Amino acid sequence: MTRPGRVLVTGGTGVLGRELVRRLQDRTEVRVLSRRPSQGPGFVQGDLETGEGLAAAVEDVDTIAHCASAADYRRPQRDVTQLRQLLDATGGARPHLVYVSIVGVDRVRFGFFQAKLDTERLVEDSGLPWTILRATEFHDLMLMFLTRLSKGPAAVVPRKSLFQPVDVGDVAERMAELVMGPAAGRVRELGGPKVESMADLMRAYLADAQRRRPVIKIPLWGRLGAGFGVGGHLLADGDRGTVTFADYLHARSDADGLLDHPYR
Ligand SMILES: NC(=O)c1ccc[n+]([C@@H]2O[C@H](COP(=O)([O-])OP(=O)(O)OC[C@H]3O[C@@H](n4cnc5c(N)ncnc54)[C@H](OP(=O)(O)O)[C@@H]3O)[C@@H](O)[C@H]2O)c1
Repeated sequence: MTRPGRVLVTGGTGVLGRELVRRLQDRTEVRVLSRRPSQGPGFVQGDLETGEGLAAAVEDVDTIAHCASAADYRRPQRDVTQLRQLLDATGGARPHLVYVSIVGVDRVRFGFFQAKLDTERLVEDSGLPWTILRATEFHDLMLMFLTRLSKGPAAVVPRKSLFQPVDVGDVAERMAELVMGPAAGRVRELGGPKVESMADLMRAYLADAQRRRPVIKIPLWGRLGAGFGVGGHLLADGDRGTVTFADYLHARSDADGLLDHPYR
């Protein structure tokens, strides 16, 4: 395995980024970009939206693991603009750019997926050595959806919707390998070990969270329904992680059986 020297992790404070940083820290020198004031050695304050602080963040880095995302479903193109700012900041330097995208961005017609696809194209056209890994939805994200969809007296899930959630630890481990290696272009996609219906995931969550609710299935309309309904976001050909959603739920429940997702 080659040594990349200094690595910048954008989004290194996020759900995936934190796990990636933890795995890289004893392998190489890591710098973390965050909008928040420095949280210790290795943190650089900067904003991908405004470009502020980015020149210092990218200075003398050999690899950039781009895990930051505005996660803005209403204005998804913000992620494209943010990557553009990051690329502008690199100037004439040629760090290896490792980007994490989502399985099915080229199959599901949904604004956020389209923006991820546009961002992938920007990576490919950047002129930098690059690697793109697509992953399915993280367990943590599913837990956030399930928590929100079960706030009322009944839990509501889209009918006929299948998911293949993956553990963020599995994704972080793969990312770490990619960061430590040479530019590899498009690599094999990574998904969870099991395809499960949203209704089954909801039942598993409700059981683990010890919350009693009926589960009601409703149709998912429009392009989103069409894309997700035919499983465009499931792994077609790729690698499967090892941790199931049930394993994740058990590991995440605290001693009192309380369960909470990490997204704010
Ligand atoms: N979640 C999933 O299920 C999933 C599945 C496949 C792929 N992915 C992709 O994986 C990546 C990470 O996802 P995640 O769920 O781990 O994200 P997340 O937890 O929402 O973290 C987002 C990160 O982006 C940073 N960020 C946001 N706006 C920024 C800005 N203007 N300037 C600098 N940093 C900014 C945040 O840092 P600060 O708040 O500290 O500034 C935070 O660390 C994303 O590209 C996502 O699309 C996610």
